[in-house]
Amino acid sequence: MANISAIITGVGGYVPDYVLNNEELSRMVDTSDEWITTRVGIKERHILTEEGLGTSYMARKAAKQLMEKTGADPDSIDAVVVATTTPDYKFPSTASIVIGRLGLKNAFAFDFSAACCGFLYALDVASSMIKSGNYKKIILIGADKMSSMVDYTDRQTCVLFGDGAAAVMLEAAEDEGFGVQNSYLRTDGKGLPFLHMKAGGSVCPPSHFTVDHRLHYIYQEGRTVFRYAVTEMSNDVKKIVEDNGMNVDDVQWVVPHDANLRIIEAVVKRVGIPMDNVLINIERYGNTSAATIPLALWDFESRLKKGDNMVLTAFGAGFVHGALYMKWAYDGKNIK
Ligand code: ACO
Repeated sequence: MANISAIITGVGGYVPDYVLNNEELSRMVDTSDEWITTRVGIKERHILTEEGLGTSYMARKAAKQLMEKTGADPDSIDAVVVATTTPDYKFPSTASIVIGRLGLKNAFAFDFSAACCGFLYALDVASSMIKSGNYKKIILIGADKMSSMVDYTDRQTCVLFGDGAAAVMLEAAEDEGFGVQNSYLRTDGKGLPFLHMKAGGSVCPPSHFTVDHRLHYIYQEGRTVFRYAVTEMSNDVKKIVEDNGMNVDDVQWVVPHDANLRIIEAVVKRVGIPMDNVLINIERYGNTSAATIPLALWDFESRLKKGDNMVLTAFGAGFVHGALYMKWAYDGKNIK
């Protein structure tokens, strides 16, 4: 049997219309455009403000655009995977809502929970599903409505996050050496105290007490997370480059999770990759968690060339972290 590759054949994306810029945030909390720009690198983020709309709305919009761009037959889709930390409901899965709205009849759907590494981990898992030979076409979506768990009275966290979604079509191809090649993924459980939401899960279900004490928001010890993020992501990128017999000059693009521009700058400096080879759009979107990496593929699709060596890397709550090596499978400049 011929080897099967898992290649990305298209990208779709969606960000909400409402733009929350640093000026507006400066009127909400004690912060400034200057602080946010120099310490984090964010100028604005998109926020889903319409009542009654959640992550599935953005995920569906991204998937719909993806299907239009790729011309995919809805009946040919085998699975829909949504990487998210902000599902519409505790159950059913957000992916099951997306699949219903897209009208897919031959597919199954599930959510994937790995915080800011959600898309990276899920890309590896979905590519293994394709390589198994059991599935030919998977829609993989990274989507998060971070504004639903941000405390807009806490200046330490509210400046960091935004909402958005992006989707890729992952397809089986006869092995031509393109697509997902290899990954190095790790989870280190020591991260819990530094980054979590205190209430709302099974340990501390919602109650008057949890609401009164504002326990349904992101809790983060930023400096500790920053330190771990730089160390782990730079080690992960170095490892994936070495493991695949490359040196840094062979890498056309690094696609990092966008949490903080200073984290990205520190990582690529340690690895020795120029900033020109890094796909970053944090200044316009902020940290959209599982959506940052596919949103970068969406934004920069026209610059990607068939055969480009790409290293995707992420870090997030858990701690989850890792890197994935992929050979891009099509010329993006021809895509409308
Ligand atoms: N505006 C103005 N001042 C601020 C703000 C703000 N928005 N936020 C914090 N400060 C102040 C602090 O109070 C502190 O003041 P002090 O010195 O008087 O005490 C000072 O700025 C420095 O604070 P630090 O926390 O040391 O600032 P730092 O440079 O570390 O930046 C940040 C904070 C942006 C949170 C950074 O630590 C960071 O990016 N951490 C990692 C975030 C991350 O990667 N998260 C992972 C993904 S999230 C997920 O998985 C859901």
